Amino acid sequence: MKIAVIGGTGLIGSQVVRILNAGGHEAVPHSPSTGLDLLSGKGLPEALDGAGVVVNLTNSPTFDDASTAFFRTTMDNLLAAAEDAGVGHAVILSIVGADRVPGLVYYRAKVLQEDILKAGPVPYSIVRATQFFEFVDAAMSWTADEHTVRLPGTLVQPMAAADVAAAVAEVVVGAPLRAARNVAGPEVFRLDELGRITLAARGDHRTVVTDDTAGLFAAASGDALIAPGDAVIAKTTYREWLAR
Ligand SMILES: NC(=O)c1ccc[n+]([C@@H]2O[C@H](COP(=O)([O-])OP(=O)(O)OC[C@H]3O[C@@H](n4cnc5c(N)ncnc54)[C@H](OP(=O)(O)O)[C@@H]3O)[C@@H](O)[C@H]2O)c1
Repeated sequence: MKIAVIGGTGLIGSQVVRILNAGGHEAVPHSPSTGLDLLSGKGLPEALDGAGVVVNLTNSPTFDDASTAFFRTTMDNLLAAAEDAGVGHAVILSIVGADRVPGLVYYRAKVLQEDILKAGPVPYSIVRATQFFEFVDAAMSWTADEHTVRLPGTLVQPMAAADVAAAVAEVVVGAPLRAARNVAGPEVFRLDELGRITLAARGDHRTVVTDDTAGLFAAASGDALIAPGDAVIAKTTYREWLAR
């Protein structure tokens, strides 16, 4: 089956392409670097020609207000082109609990992306993943200086990007779910504790200071980012991943 993977050069997209091709499919990565711009629509008709499935693994360049326009415009363009090309299944990757953090504009933009897909003309699936292990460093860098890293005590249930990619690939080759599938890591951590584990594993002597106002994840409270009971739980633990 020919599968167009938009954002197929990114962290998740490149791994999804590899898994699908190893499984005998013809997965083709598309991104600005291959000549496709989902914001303008340039290169989309050619990318979708003959594709049975389109997977959207793009990301907004920023997490601010501009992310709303990014996800709206890119989804509108994608669905119009997918309908024209007769694509039978559109898959996106969203975030567990995105609808439970109204204070975070990027998460609201992801909910908008889901809503556009659900209301659109193409049979769809949504994979909702928790925060990637690979994202912990970025989250620490937002509020770090030479001596300290400030992190809130927000509860997270992170997972390896490789496990996210495997979950996406499984959905891509199945029938459209017309719903969301939640996938999550095997353990729940406080984000400040995850920061301490990360720094210790790397021999980084900075101190993690608990600050419930620090960084984007300060906007999530309680169990907002924890997977619901029906989630598929991935195997890789954070300490296993850190040790690789
Ligand atoms: N980070 C997390 O913890 C987390 C958790 C759950 C879900 N997600 C979701 O996972 C998705 C993928 O994330 P990721 O970390 O794999 O992203 P990433 O590594 O930043 O990759 C983004 C991809 O999108 C492409 N892209 C950017 N602008 C584009 C445009 N205008 N047209 C076409 N392609 C464009 C990039 O192409 P270039 O390489 O050419 O720039 C790249 O291939 C995101 O939608 C995110 O919301 C993330």
